[in-house]
Amino acid sequence: MRFTNPQFRHRAFISEVSGTPSRSLARIDDRPIKSPVRYLTCRFSQKCCNAVAFCANGTLSKTECLRSVPSHTVPIGQRSLARNHCSELRLCLKTCTQYEPPAYISIKKKQMKNFSNSLVTAIPQLLRRVSLPCAILACLGLAGQVTADDLPLGLKPVPIPKDNPQTAEKIALGKQLYFDKRLSKDNTVSCASCHAPEKGFSNGERFATGVGGAKGGRSAPSVINSAYYRQQFWDGRAATLEEQALGPIANPIEMALSIEDAVGRLNKIGGYKSQFQKVFGTDANPDGIAKAIAAYERTVLSGNAPYDKYKAGDKSALSEAAERGRKLFFGKANCAACHAGSNFSDNSYHNIGIGMDVKDFDKGRVAVSKLGGDTGAFKTPTLREIARSGPYMHDGSLKTLEEVVEHYAKGGIANEWLDEELFPLRLNAQDKADVVTFMKEGLASPDYPNHKAPKLPE
Ligand code: HEC
Ligand code: HEC
Repeated sequence: MRFTNPQFRHRAFISEVSGTPSRSLARIDDRPIKSPVRYLTCRFSQKCCNAVAFCANGTLSKTECLRSVPSHTVPIGQRSLARNHCSELRLCLKTCTQYEPPAYISIKKKQMKNFSNSLVTAIPQLLRRVSLPCAILACLGLAGQVTADDLPLGLKPVPIPKDNPQTAEKIALGKQLYFDKRLSKDNTVSCASCHAPEKGFSNGERFATGVGGAKGGRSAPSVINSAYYRQQFWDGRAATLEEQALGPIANPIEMALSIEDAVGRLNKIGGYKSQFQKVFGTDANPDGIAKAIAAYERTVLSGNAPYDKYKAGDKSALSEAAERGRKLFFGKANCAACHAGSNFSDNSYHNIGIGMDVKDFDKGRVAVSKLGGDTGAFKTPTLREIARSGPYMHDGSLKTLEEVVEHYAKGGIANEWLDEELFPLRLNAQDKADVVTFMKEGLASPDYPNHKAPKLPE
């Protein structure tokens, strides 16, 4: 079944074919069973299209992509198979710029032993289709990469835009700007007020508080590892950190200072003027401010956590409880369906039912993508250093990680757009505690980027 209408992607997940009724279906979709056997269609094609469209930066529209990549159907009862299949393919697209077909296929072939024949033959076929967009992407060379020697264990090289290479001077300048309250109207708020290193680069409150105590309706996400997101903000409305950086300065409920005024202020401060001259060869201007802040943000990284050491072979790096939690996280608790890859985010958007129980709920991603299926969907956040940045979720509505796990265990909050990866989990109290332990211990780094405010220029 093809997702010709993305609005129905959550429904298209199940397609009907002939055969005998399956009991497991009822757990996935409790609408009446009309025809005897149903097949499960993985939602990969939608995700792939998101990924490809992001990578290709508009070269390939989502509609074109939907046409070029077939979705995949497997019998119900092999639900986990469908899920694995989807994540494998998702992975391919995620790494599409570095993707090398031969290696990929040979590894996969081994893992595919248990897959049905039809699946095995379908994969190379899918990959061939996928490699075209991948080739386009490779040519585009959208984002160069640095291979820093000091890259924390477990992290991929940070994607660095070609037009904003990292330099020590630029990072130092960006760090000063990040901590400087003079970039707000009444000199009371800096980026660090809402994204404070000592609070997991968030603010410890349900909502962010800007100039004059103004509050918005969303929580401040952590800046940690935001360099890896394909898009910024809960709804992904900014494409890059550069694009994101000027928003909060001018936002009336954040720093409330027009960009012209910000530029004017910086150029009156000798120490800034000279640094901008040195780094960019001009006085301070909006482009330079954005680039410097983004360059600094790309140094706010967390890796080398017990989980990374464990993965690298040190089996003693996780406590027994954290190790049980790890298994559940990647298995029965289904967390890795979305919190995937080295940054524990699939860079995609899902409705997990948060805030959906009020009439005028936050519509999330749909405002940007205009795809009905994205209603109430938000970006999957990283889980690295997650114990530090509560309260959780886009509306800060869950205070603790225990509450978060409870939310998932009951299958989220039912609503029309709930992601199909959410369903009641069969977790006992010990299991739930173990998942929490995995996040608290396993994903907290001893090298936490506990940055201190630098000396600010006069
Ligand atoms: C008043 C509080 C506040 C201030 C000040 C503030 N932010 Fe934010 N920031 C937020 C909130 C709230 C969001 C999420 C908004 C949304 O998604 O709609 C956010 C989102 C972000 C994101 C996106 C992260 C992600 O996971 O998508 C980045 C990066 C960021 N801010 C950096 C900055 C920088 C740089 C500054 C200073 C120039 C800054 N912020 C100032 C509250 C603030
Ligand atoms: C369907 C995809 C999906 C699955 C499955 C999933 N998550 Fe999430 N997770 C998300 C999204 C999307 C958000 C943000 C949702 C929002 O704010 O509305 C999120 C948010 C979170 C947060 C809060 C992060 C923050 O910075 O506020 C935590 C913690 C978390 N998830 C842990 C888990 C755990 C543990 C599991 C498994 C039990 C899990 N997730 C399963 C997609 C998923």
